[in-house]
Amino acid sequence: MKTNEIRELFIRYFEDNGHQAVESSPLVPGNDPTLLFTNAGMVQFKDVFLGNDDRAYSRAVSSQRCLRAGGKHNDLENVGYTTRHHTFFEMLGNFSFGDYFKEEAIHLAWNFITEELKLDKDRLWVTIFEDDDEAASIWLDQIGIQSDRLVRMGKESNFWSMGDTGPCGPCSEIFYDHGSDIHGGPPGSKDEDGDRFVEIWNLVFMQFDRQDDGTMNPLPKPSVDTGMGLERIAAVMQNVHSNYDIDLFQNLLSAIKNISNQGDDSHYRVIADHIRSTAFLIADGVTPGNEGRGYVLRRIIRRALRHGYELEIQTPFFFSLIFPF
Ligand code: ALA
Repeated sequence: MKTNEIRELFIRYFEDNGHQAVESSPLVPGNDPTLLFTNAGMVQFKDVFLGNDDRAYSRAVSSQRCLRAGGKHNDLENVGYTTRHHTFFEMLGNFSFGDYFKEEAIHLAWNFITEELKLDKDRLWVTIFEDDDEAASIWLDQIGIQSDRLVRMGKESNFWSMGDTGPCGPCSEIFYDHGSDIHGGPPGSKDEDGDRFVEIWNLVFMQFDRQDDGTMNPLPKPSVDTGMGLERIAAVMQNVHSNYDIDLFQNLLSAIKNISNQGDDSHYRVIADHIRSTAFLIADGVTPGNEGRGYVLRRIIRRALRHGYELEIQTPFFFSLIFPF
């Protein structure tokens, strides 16, 4: 299944389940000084979760362009060294604003991946927040997940927040096992950082608004925020073990290969990723600079150039990849 088809299927599935399809917002969040970049699908709905903005709908679905470089969620230094991290990526997400909560969120997600995408259930693992017995019982008793595939995790990985302040809550993540030929262990094991077990979907049960001093105020209504990395699920659906092997990256990678010497795969991954983030940041109005967003963009370009020099790409050729005219 092509990446574009997965995106369409996701939006249609949630529309069929009563969700309003909402366009992606820009990478620069409007009106939110607490965030450098849009780092998740929920960012444009922050005020709806907080009860400060009323929409005509209480369920939404989107495919959000995201950037995770700088700020709380920062994957910049991972890019190139794993097959699953990006600075720029698309996040598929469904949202409930005081409508459904844990039970329906889990059923909707499980149904999508097992009935629509037809993923092999034997390859799926689930994590929950350590004391979330309600989520445990939905997974075990209603979904029927095997108890040895359900892992309880601490707040580092299973309590999600968008930034130092704002909406947050415990979460439950779904992992896909790419198979024993890939290095890595299940979530919670000492090898969990390998590329074998990949988190494909995070279901956040939004319940609190974290304040500057750490106080957790309850949200007006328990809500749901989910995020599935489009490039990760595309890798699963296209039977490849690296996000960089999906259809979306092929033209970029061959353009890079055409102007470079041969080298380690990590250099190609870094350049392909950073070209996407650079192009989308500039399209959303960010220009390289000495501080804030502009400085992050400048660091991304510099990092790509550094890897380009390893492949002996000349600087003008490199920029022709970003600005192909
Ligand atoms: N907002 C959640 C995340 O980014 C879904 O993982």
